[in-house]
Amino acid sequence: MGSIIWNKMKHDVKVKLLNEQHKRLFDTLKELYCAMEDKSDKAALLRILNNLSMYIKEHLGTEEALLEKYNYPGLEEQREQHKLFVDKIEEFKKDFENNKFMLYFDMAIFLKSWIANHIEEIDRKYSNFLNDKGVY
Ligand SMILES: [Fe+2]
Ligand SMILES: [Fe+2]
Repeated sequence: MGSIIWNKMKHDVKVKLLNEQHKRLFDTLKELYCAMEDKSDKAALLRILNNLSMYIKEHLGTEEALLEKYNYPGLEEQREQHKLFVDKIEEFKKDFENNKFMLYFDMAIFLKSWIANHIEEIDRKYSNFLNDKGVY
């Protein structure tokens, strides 16, 4: 699974609020993964998954609004990727509610890889752009 931890070398986007939101996503993912390892009950897992989904939507909204405000050229790429991810989370929530327990670990691995890779490869492209506009 690899470590579920925000890593400055890999994930720093040089904007404080967005870094804080990204860290919260990693923390919530870690919480989800630990709860799965501890074989927590469905209600507990669903509560964490709902939190994760809420934090993700909040974060993607903040990020898109900021990029839109400064006319970031890569905004469409961000929007497309974010939308695919939100759809995927909704699908996972449905699976969860329908007791597809076998999928839990696959889901956690997918969520973790998506978030880590997206920050590293897509989000980090806006760092210098936003810093140049005075956003830190
Ligand atoms: Fe992000
Ligand atoms: Fe993003």
